[in-house]
Formats: sequence, structure tokens, C-alpha cells
Amino acid sequence: MRITLTKPDDFHLHLRDGDALKSVLPHTAERFARAMVMPNLRPPATTVEQARAYHGRILAALPEGASFTPLMALYLTDNTPPEEIAHARQSGIVHAVKLYPAGATTNSDSGVTDLRKVEPTLRTMAELRMPLLVHGEVTDPRVDVFDRELMFIEHVLRPLLDRIPDLRVVLEHITTREAAAFVQHAGINVAATITPQHLLMNRNALFQGGIRPHHYCLPVLKREHHREALVEVAISGNPKFFLGTDSAPHTRPTKEAACGCAGIYSAHAAIELYAEAFEEAGALDRLDAFASRFGAEYYGLFRNRATIVLEKTEWEVPASYPMGDSTVVPLRAGERMGWRLVR
Ligand code: DOR
Ligand code: ZN
Repeated sequence: MRITLTKPDDFHLHLRDGDALKSVLPHTAERFARAMVMPNLRPPATTVEQARAYHGRILAALPEGASFTPLMALYLTDNTPPEEIAHARQSGIVHAVKLYPAGATTNSDSGVTDLRKVEPTLRTMAELRMPLLVHGEVTDPRVDVFDRELMFIEHVLRPLLDRIPDLRVVLEHITTREAAAFVQHAGINVAATITPQHLLMNRNALFQGGIRPHHYCLPVLKREHHREALVEVAISGNPKFFLGTDSAPHTRPTKEAACGCAGIYSAHAAIELYAEAFEEAGALDRLDAFASRFGAEYYGLFRNRATIVLEKTEWEVPASYPMGDSTVVPLRAGERMGWRLVR
């Protein structure tokens, strides 16, 4: 069996930089027409000029003949001025601004310490219809890791949208039933991305036969009933929910460590993993809209004309892929996948 999809877009992706960028970019460029590239580099891309330079490095790293458009996101700090938003709007390459609560995840130490500090900037974003992409977790170490998304929604996001109701917000990589419900009931300006890992795994995957660092990402995997809620909204045909892999490569030694990094690498088989999740839910016919239409519509981008074909053929995921001068262990390493990209 084969299915043809409009070439999809990945609205949440980590590409890193330098040699690592060169290693991982081809996986995404083979499958996706465009991707929203996260700015949590070291140092982060906080200005349009930095985003433009990064955009150039991504284009330069593309394999010969690839047709792929990076969409850039600016990293919001306590000091991002409103003028930078206007500048971003005019740039033609910056399509969003990313909020990392300071300390929430990988390279988030320059993130926002208090949203009230950037209120004028957020108001300018609402005026200019510039989406705010949200890593929705509180950072208070007293809050249970599994409750951080819910606490963020209740104590940060809901009040923010009460203050600035027309702010366009994408709640990234949602992981809970409550996050799905929040987005469903919010205004049309509020949307969400969903990763393949949160559709396919629950938190048992972190401890399957021993501790499994390659299943650790942030926000962390949750209980089965949350996974079920995410599948429900992903296949619902509601345009507020669309594809964002959060593919986040870290080298093997930095994952398999006493204090391992958060991030799951899925770019090597991203659309194939979503196909598996949608097929399991009996909703393969809904994949095209989720993967290739709703995100583009939210961002006001044209619909891709190219197509890709997936075939129901087994293949084995390699144990690792090169990443710079090291390796990255992909999701499903050494296991068999049921769907294969044929062109
Ligand atoms: O698991 C994650 N990895 N979550 C994030 O929010 C960041 C990402 C990364 O950059 O590695
Ligand atoms: Zn991310």
C-alpha cells in the first residue's frame, strides 16, 4: 500500500549549527518542504540579524538539489524590544518568536524570567500578528515535573491571554489532556503542535526494561490517558492542531550520561512515525491535513505543491546516525518501522 501526501511542514524543529546541522538537516529536507527552526543555539538567535545569519548557514548546509525553506523564529529575552518585532515582520524570514521560560530546557538560560517584563513587546506582537511559540512549562523546582505544563497553562498562559486576548500563541509540543482541551476552547488565535513521541509513547517508555535516556524529552512523556487525548485531537480535523516534531538531536554521550540532555531525535523518520500513529488510530485519511495543511494555514503560508509518497514496507532504523564528529541515537534505533518514504 502507498499513500501520497502533500509535502508536509515541520512547525517545530531543532537543527543545531555547524557540523551537527550538516549531519541532521538532510533527514528533514527529504521529508519536509519547510520547518520552523528553533533559535536555542549557543548563543541564542535573539535578533533578526542573528536569525538571518543562521538562515544563511542552514541554506548553505542543504544537500545539492534539495528544496527546503527554513522558517526562522526569534528567541525572546527579557530585553527584546518592540522594534525588533517590527523588524522581524519586515524581514520575510522570521515567522515567529519563541518563548522559553528561563531554565525550562536546553539552552534556555537567556529566556524570559517574567512575562510582564516583555509586555510591550508582546503587545506589539499581537498588533503585528506575530505568533508567540510557547514552551509551556513552569520552571519552579518545587513543581512536580509531570505537572509543569498544566501549571504553566493555569498560572502563566491563561493570565497572559486574559491580558492580551488577540496574541497569536502556539502552545508547542503539548503533552496533556488539559493542554489539548485548553487549546480547543481558546480563541482561533491559539493553536498547538504535537510531536510523534507524544502520540506514540507514554511515560512507561522512559523505564522500559531500565532507564531509557533516548526517550527523555521536555516536556516529558505523560500517562496513557494524556497520549490518548493527544491522538484524539490530532486526528480530529481541528485545524488548531498540527505537526511539529520537536526533533532535538543530542550526541550519544550527552544523552547516555549521569545527567543526560532532554531531546528525542525523530527527523530520520518523522512523517513515517506520524503515519504509524494515524494508522493505529484508523485515521490515515486525516494525516494530510494535520501534516501539510493546518500549520501552513495558521502561519498564512501557501500550501506546498510537491508531494511525498509513503509505502507500507518494513525497514530497520540504524542504531545511530553521524552527528558532527559524534553520533546521534534516533527514535526506534535498531527497531523496525512499518512505513517508508519512497520519494
Ligand atoms: O526535549 C527537548 N529538547 N525539549 C526542548 O524544549 C528543547 C529541546 C532541545 O533543544 O534539545
Ligand atoms: Zn523544541
